[in-house]
This record gives sequence, structure tokens and C-alpha cells, in this order.
Amino acid sequence: MKLRLGVLGSGKGSNFRAIMEAIREGWLEAEVRIVISDVEDAGILKLAHEFDVPSQYVPPGRFRTKLEPEIEHQIVQILREMDVELIVLAGFMRVLKEVLLYAFPGRIINIHPSLLPKFRGLSAWTQALNAQEKITGCTVHYVDAGVDTGEILGQRIVPILPDDTSERLHARIQTAEHALLPSVIAEIARQRSNRSASRPF
Ligand code: GRF
Repeated sequence: MKLRLGVLGSGKGSNFRAIMEAIREGWLEAEVRIVISDVEDAGILKLAHEFDVPSQYVPPGRFRTKLEPEIEHQIVQILREMDVELIVLAGFMRVLKEVLLYAFPGRIINIHPSLLPKFRGLSAWTQALNAQEKITGCTVHYVDAGVDTGEILGQRIVPILPDDTSERLHARIQTAEHALLPSVIAEIARQRSNRSASRPF
């Protein structure tokens, strides 16, 4: 039984593409049931169309960094209709609040472009560069009520090179993300089908 995913994203969707490629290559036992975006012209919605995955734009409402509770209810309804088991935040640029967190406890994961707990929040690669770190990376973690604070599921280290720019470093981190995110989801899928998961799905 394939793990049923719902992917939320606001950007170009390269992590969603990595998930789809892993499924296509046969090493990720999952299917993406729905892609949801808060950005009408987001690349991730176009990619969903290319991959023949159902997708939906959900207007985010009046806040900048979170969704109105009614909008979260709307998203919960869509995810339930599509019978989604695991929600993957793949570049979703809003903080989730109670409605979504309570509807899917322990079933939402996020990819973040730093070695958490270092450099939470926005432009984490620039934060790492400015802090003159030698290494940074990416993290997949469960989502809780904090910002980039949930239980860590996996990390990849990425070196910071002497002549790095923000753009070059971010691109290198994204390459690591594209390997990490599908492999963490594959592990969740394996645990779920072995019924040895500590998580209830
Ligand atoms: C990624 O770098 C991720 O870490 C961050 O947003 C970016 C999304 O990129 N949360 P993409 O839309 O998957 O290309």
C-alpha cells in the first residue's frame, strides 16, 4: 500500500519534483494525492499539472505569514477528501496553526534549509553564510506549533565554500534537499508498511 501524500508549497516545486522522481524510479512507495499552494502562479502548481497530479490554489486570506483559520479548515477538508496520510511542506511559506496541526497530529513534515536547531526561519542559508559557518545543510522535521522546531527526522550536511554567494549556497543545499526529503518519506513509508512505526499511520 502506497503512502498517500499531500504536498503544500509556495514556490518553484523542486522538492515536489524530487518526490515524484523518486516515486517514478521505484524507491519511494508513495503517491501524491494533491498539491496545494497559497500562490496562484507558483511553479509547484504547474509542475503538478505536468505530473498529472491534482492540484489546488487556495487563496491565503489577509495574513502574510499564516493562514486564516477558515482557510486552514478548507485545506483540512481537501486533504481529508483526498484521504491523505502524510502532509509534506515543500517550501510552504506560511506557519501552520491549530486547525491544521490538530487535524493531522504527528503527520506533517517540513524541509528546512539549515542544520536545525541552527538558523530557524527565513533565508537560513544566508544566516549560515553571515555567521561564517564552515558547514550548513538541510533538515526534515515533524511540524509542531513552533517555527522549525519539531522532532528531527533526517539531516544532510553541505559545505560552505570560501567564495560562496547566497545563491550558490542555496543551490547546493537544494541538491541535498532533493535527496533527503524523498529518502525520509521512503523511511516513513517503510515503517508504516512494517507496522513498526511509532506513529499511528
Ligand atoms: C526549499 O529550499 C526549502 O528548504 C524551503 O523552501 C524551498 C522550497 O524550494 N523551505 P522548492 O519550491 O521545493 O524548489
